[in-house]
Amino acid sequence: MIQTQTLATTPEGLARAAAILRAQGLVAFPTETVYGLGGDARSDLAVARIFDAKGRPRFNPLIVHVPDLAAAKAFAHFDTRAEAVAGAFWPGPLTLVLPLRADAGLSPLVTAELDTVAIRIPAHPAAQALLRAFGGPLAAPSANPSGRVSPTRAVHVIDGLSGRIDAVLDGGACGVGVESTILGLVGAPALLRPGGVPSEALEAMLGPLASGGNAEKPNAPGQLASHYAPGAAVRLNADTALPGEVRLGFGPGPADLNLSATADLIEAAANLFHMLREADVMAGQGGRIAVAPIPEQGLGRAINDRLRRAAAPRG
Ligand code: TXA
Ligand code: MG
Repeated sequence: MIQTQTLATTPEGLARAAAILRAQGLVAFPTETVYGLGGDARSDLAVARIFDAKGRPRFNPLIVHVPDLAAAKAFAHFDTRAEAVAGAFWPGPLTLVLPLRADAGLSPLVTAELDTVAIRIPAHPAAQALLRAFGGPLAAPSANPSGRVSPTRAVHVIDGLSGRIDAVLDGGACGVGVESTILGLVGAPALLRPGGVPSEALEAMLGPLASGGNAEKPNAPGQLASHYAPGAAVRLNADTALPGEVRLGFGPGPADLNLSATADLIEAAANLFHMLREADVMAGQGGRIAVAPIPEQGLGRAINDRLRRAAAPRG
């Protein structure tokens, strides 16, 4: 066990966080999507610590976070499509999977020894400030034990990883609330994970996207069947709650917790992981959560993807 410190997003807090990262320690930090568990992406030791802290399978590669496009180009090859998408959506809730540069200098653990790399430029000011204070690339999966609900507040990180990481930088609640969209640009453009950038916006630029991955041979963690799982059992597309179920609503109507009373998908995404945690507490041991139907459009695609995995049979 190590003592996990909570750091403020002050110059002192950021300097302390950067010093921990330079010493190959782990710092959880806010992004606009979810909190990431950051470690130096060039350090085998730091990256191994990330996998250990999360209990994450080592075949599951990590996203490399950088502050700007110039930094991203040190690690991946950008073709004209990648340049265009980066120009339109970075910084923001989008991850690009691109060919890895031979001279990237990343730990092979980050890419699970693939010849591709997942890269993201987060927009959150605290993430930007940390990347600049540290001065290198940060490997960062979501800051939760593997398979569990992703964290959108510093207290969620503490709940899951206290004693296993050095620090969490507390930047308040995450605005987007679901993870980044993962777009593969190695061959034909492929949607590897729906997320904070709606796939409709990417298709407007790139044309129809192939859908990537399969649950047998996952190359994105969200592709494991059971993921984002609370303790309680989850029932989807529930128009009403059965006796004893906690109802997670969407739109008008009775609900114990409502993702968005006005049926706003952006608000629902921002509330999703926090309310799954709250519903889990309300449901108690052996409890059940009944979730209202969510439209399959815009951020609803990412919400439904996470809900399907939360409801999937547990491995
Ligand atoms: O919003 C986010 O993306 C958050 C924040 C912290 O940036 N991070 C996040 O990381 O969700 P994680 O590890 O929970 O999900 C990263 C996903 C995994 O599904 C992984 O398999 C996929 O990215 N991935 C990483 N490298 C890849 C690669 N070379 N090819 C395909 N998928 C890759
Ligand atoms: Mg995750």
